[in-house]
Amino acid sequence: HYRDGGHQPLKGKRLLLTAGPTREALDPVRYLSNHSSGKMGFALADQAQRMGAEVTLISGPVSLPTPQGVNRIDVESAEQMLAAVMDNLAGQDVFVGCAAVADYRPVAVAEGKIKKSEAAMTVELVRNPDILATVAQQAKRPFTVGFAAETHNVEQYARDKLARKGLDLIAANDVSQPGQGFNANANALTLYWNEGAKDLGHSDKADQARQLLETIAQRLPADEN
Ligand code: CTP
Ligand code: CA
Repeated sequence: HYRDGGHQPLKGKRLLLTAGPTREALDPVRYLSNHSSGKMGFALADQAQRMGAEVTLISGPVSLPTPQGVNRIDVESAEQMLAAVMDNLAGQDVFVGCAAVADYRPVAVAEGKIKKSEAAMTVELVRNPDILATVAQQAKRPFTVGFAAETHNVEQYARDKLARKGLDLIAANDVSQPGQGFNANANALTLYWNEGAKDLGHSDKADQARQLLETIAQRLPADEN
């Protein structure tokens, strides 16, 4: 679409992305995680690269090939993902938080494999840092984009996150609909920003990614030099 000459709307821009799930260890052989496949984040990395951007993709554990021309950094936990993001944030023009970051992690990681004993056990969890909100709070921050996976009241919750985290744009995903969101090949995003909204329709993740990136390119601040 964009690669062979022609106008590349993200030419010269640097884009940092998170994708996939995180894994929060319980002991050396077990973890808490979620069903994120990483497909949406990897589609964004691929399309952004085609649109001329220099792309760094920080990925949780997924089974997807690295898109051509993309710099990929693999992590497991939310804390590792945050550290990798902060290490790579300087000089970025755009940050897109597409990862399904685990909201909580076990308070302690057992040193050895946990043995079963009682009929029931309780695991105590603590909140993970919010990577997206941390990026948005930086004094010199990139254009910051989040995702919102919701099953109901989609616009209200998405606009809530946009305001609460201080984002420039949010892409909302109604995960109650079959065939979109987690693990699916298609998606139906609605974009929200302070003064507007845009419904991207229903299409494959490459097309959704392209439309989201085109909207980001239009909304980026003009170059200062
Ligand atoms: N996110 C993040 N770090 C976290 C949790 C979420 O960077 N610890 C990012 C996700 O990558 C996504 C956005 O925040 O871009 C929203 O994630 P979501 O799970 O929809 O929202 P939460 O703020 O975690 O709220 P909740 O799960 O309660 O709806
Ligand atoms: Ca969450």
